[in-house]
Amino acid sequence: MQQPIPEPDFYRPVSHSRTTLTELMIPSYANFGGKIHGGILLSLMDKVAYTCAAKHAGNYCVTVTVDGVHFLQPVEVGELVSLMASVNYVGRTSLVIGIKVIAENVKSGYVKHTNTSYFTMVAKAEDNKPTKVPGLLLETPEDVRRFMEAIQRKEIKTRSEQELTKMKTNLELRQNISALLGQRCSLGFEL
Ligand SMILES: CC(C)(COP(=O)(O)OP(=O)(O)OC[C@H]1O[C@@H](n2cnc3c(N)ncnc32)[C@H](O)[C@@H]1OP(=O)(O)O)[C@@H](O)C(=O)NCCC(=O)NCCS
Repeated sequence: MQQPIPEPDFYRPVSHSRTTLTELMIPSYANFGGKIHGGILLSLMDKVAYTCAAKHAGNYCVTVTVDGVHFLQPVEVGELVSLMASVNYVGRTSLVIGIKVIAENVKSGYVKHTNTSYFTMVAKAEDNKPTKVPGLLLETPEDVRRFMEAIQRKEIKTRSEQELTKMKTNLELRQNISALLGQRCSLGFEL
């Protein structure tokens, strides 16, 4: 039987899609405490992830998962937020975009790292089905490290999702009630 001829792989360098988005934090972005809403930062992260993924894929992309969103420091009105995105990993139709977010006080010059997150995006064709993305040409040892880390994160995530599913299916409330000892909760009904 004749074997299908494999499609030749086509690679795009990490530098082709590396993207930085800088935005001034204006008063309408702030919450009642005067700090910037986490949702504003998430929206900017989604925007820069999309730009980077679509440039690499050469196609429309959708966000599938967002990992590692920890807002480590508050962002203030008047600060300049820069979001630096690059493709860390590609699968067949998916891409992992790593995003580093920094906030700069323009008067003092002080720059703080507010978070690093990973967006998994999938490229879609005209028929709205996932479509193959170009391979990734790793240009520096840093690119190699990020690609390897993404593989490890993916493996850890798969294992942890399997553990969670196992835990949920085996969770028997009466037998496991002792796990609540020392927790800040109280039962409002008889178990
Ligand atoms: C994500 C989506 C494209 C998956 O479609 P699907 O028909 O199940 O496609 P597949 O099973 O072929 O998966 C496609 C890719 O997504 C990846 N994927 C699917 N679910 C995933 C998850 N939970 N986490 C990480 N990657 C995932 C698969 O691993 C695969 O990657 P690969 O081709 O590089 O190996 C589809 O569910 C979708 O369109 N979701 C809506 C996305 C959206 O609208 N986002 C906007 C924000 S609301």
